[in-house]
This record gives sequence, C-alpha cells and structure tokens, in this order.
Amino acid sequence: MLTRSLRLINTSSKLVRNYSTSFWSNVQKGPEDPILGVSIAFNKDTSPSKINLGVGAYRDENGKPYVLECVKKADKKIFEAGVDHEYAPIVGLASFNSLSVALALGEDCKAIKDKKIAVIQTLSGTGALRVAAEFLARFYPGKTAYVPNPTWGNHNTIFADSGVAVKSYAYYNPQNCGLNFDGMYNDINAAPNGSIILLHACAHNPTGVDPSIAQWKKISQLCKDKQHFVLFDFAYQGFASGSPEKDAEPVRLFVADGHQIGLCQSFAKNFGLYGQRIGAFSLITGTPEEALAVESQLKILVRPMYSNPPIFGARVVSTILSNKELTEQWRTEVKGMADRIIGMRESLVKYLKQHGSTKDWSHITNQIGMFCYTGLTPEQVDRLASEFHIYLTRNGRISIAGINSKNVEYLAKAIHAVTK
Ligand SMILES: Cc1ncc(COP(=O)(O)O)c(C=O)c1O
Repeated sequence: MLTRSLRLINTSSKLVRNYSTSFWSNVQKGPEDPILGVSIAFNKDTSPSKINLGVGAYRDENGKPYVLECVKKADKKIFEAGVDHEYAPIVGLASFNSLSVALALGEDCKAIKDKKIAVIQTLSGTGALRVAAEFLARFYPGKTAYVPNPTWGNHNTIFADSGVAVKSYAYYNPQNCGLNFDGMYNDINAAPNGSIILLHACAHNPTGVDPSIAQWKKISQLCKDKQHFVLFDFAYQGFASGSPEKDAEPVRLFVADGHQIGLCQSFAKNFGLYGQRIGAFSLITGTPEEALAVESQLKILVRPMYSNPPIFGARVVSTILSNKELTEQWRTEVKGMADRIIGMRESLVKYLKQHGSTKDWSHITNQIGMFCYTGLTPEQVDRLASEFHIYLTRNGRISIAGINSKNVEYLAKAIHAVTK
C-alpha cells in the first residue's frame, strides 16, 4: 500500500526519490541505553548463578519484583468503589497533588498553608523533570542548568531536549568513593548568579553518596547568596533511610531557608509503582496569585504534550496517603525495602572481608539508597560478566536491590577475585 502511494507521488510530481526508497532511510540506528544492554546480556546468559545488578528496580529476597501490600489493598478499594475511567484534569488528581506535596514538604509547611505552591501530577519522576525543564526553558530563559558529575544520565538529555543548556558541578570523589564537597561548593559558587542547580534530594543516583545535613546547610546558604534556582529531584523518598521524613530533610531545609524550590517527585520506587508512571512537579511561588498563574502556564505546557496524566497510580497513592492505616502500612513496607538494602550492603562487606579482601570497602556501607558506586574499573566489570555471570554497568555501579541472601556471598567472592 505504502509502496503504491509512493510510486503515484513519484510519477505525478516528479520527485527525485525513487519509489523503493523509504522516507526514513537517512535515520541511523542510535546506541542502546547502557542499562538495557546489561539486561540483554543477562537474559542471554544461561548460568544458574547469574546476577543482574544493572536494573534500578527493587527486588525482594527471591530476586522478584515486589508489590507492596498497601498497594494491593488500595487496588482492591479502588476496584470495589466501581470508579469510572474518565479523563483526569490537565493537572491530575487534586487529592494526589496535595497529598504528595505534603508528604515531601511536611503538613505544617507554611508555603502549603499560604497556597503559594503550584503542583501538577506528572508521568513519574522523568515526566516531572521534563515538565520542569520545559517550564524553565519558557519562563527562565537563557539560564544554564548545573547537574552533579556524575548524575542520572537522563538529566542531561531532559534539559538538552527541552532547550536548557546543561553543565555539571563536581560531586563524586573517586579517591574515597565519597563526596567531593569542596569541588561541589566551588563549582556552584562559580556558576553565574541565578543558574539552575539540580540537586538529588537523597540516595544520589548513580553514586549513593549524599551530603551530610551540615553540608546541605552550606549549599543552601550558597545557593541563596548566588540567587540560584534550586530544582530538587526527589525520586527516593523513604527508600534511602527508611524514613520519609529523614529523607525529606534537605528539601525541607531549603524551603525553611526561603528558597522557592522546584520539586520533582516520583512514586516509582517508594510505592513500587514503576509502570504506573506517577509523580508530581511543584513550584513554590511568591503569592497565591503567582501560584495560580504558574499553574495555568503548566496546563498550557502539558495540554499539547500528553493532554492529561494517567489516573490509576494517582488513585493508588491518594488512597494510601489519605488513609491512616494504609499510610502506616506503607511506612512499614518502605522501611522494609530500605532496611533490606542496608542489610545487603553490610552483608556484602562482611563476606568480602571473610573471603580475604583487605581493601577498604567502607564506602559500600557509607553510601545510601538503591545504588552503590563500587569503584570497580570497566575491566573488572567485564571480568565479573565473563567469568562470574554478574552483570552491571561499566561505571562500576551496582543496584543493591539485585543482591539477596542467596547470592551475596557468591558476589563477594567474585568481587574479591577481580580486585585482588
Ligand atoms: C535520580 C532519578 N531521578 C528520576 C528518576 C525517574 O524515575 P521514574 O521516571 O521512573 O519516576 C530516577 C529513576 O531511576 C532516578 O534515579
């Protein structure tokens, strides 16, 4: 059919293109996502001892995806309520929006009470970042966004695709697998006044390295002095320490210091709602009128992008966070996930020592969240795959969620073998 119509166009309008040439013959195959590449190699491997440490999704003790009990109960409630499937408003579900902002900023947050926050439901954390970047391109033009080096790879492309120039600030210190605080401070200080500074609120991806509260205070003061606009990426609330409040401390500190922050939330990890694409973008403004104006412009941005967000994930989160019992259960379950990850970090270090490694592995337990920057070289990573069937990205990042009590000793032995 396509060939036939192309041939007709060709004869009647004397186009140079031959009927057998496709419209898309000049499209070159792009590179695979590096994390996807890890999963492809893992899936091909037939060894029973294989381990996938690439994927950034929580796995239980049996290496299986985990559906939270509170989510199952919320599913049931939603089903039993016999809800319809009408469109959500452009800004999403109102109850979800207010509950999600309250979860991040605290119920007693003054900006919430003063109605100075514009909030919009988004397609998970990625969608929140994309809406944020599009909004900044339109209403904060000519500014550069500074992201940590390294950062979650999508940050660079989200800003670039939205037309926001992007540079990086120092973050990771490979010497001690910890934070290069001086480098970070100096780079943020050297950025032109009014720059966009993207900060990972907790559980920095890919390094697992977070500033201490004392360091956060210094960064907050610096960003104030420099009149920088701070955009928090908050993809792991509760998932890092096990306490949603503790993980929110940096964000709340900046708000208490008077920053008009932008906030990108994801409910993928902490509620296990990866595929439901549920998140939120909010912006603290100066007055209730400003908040309404910002909201109206967010709607104008979203309408031609995806019109309005999917509703199910918002209903699940909203059902849980508006019900005391389900909220308690969520807190217990998110703590369970965080604790399992913290426990696996400790186990890995214990077995590394037990099998004779004399290297300093303290960064494995000092780092926090789903990921650990092990310090393994690309060559050591290649050996883990070829000799031990263990798969991770070549930057040495492992997803601790892929470790469990059945494979941790094998992993420790393998890491020791390639690092001694
Ligand atoms: C730092 C960071 N930000 C944002 C996201 C967004 O994830 P999602 O779009 O699934 O919510 C992720 C996911 O891995 C992440 O690690």
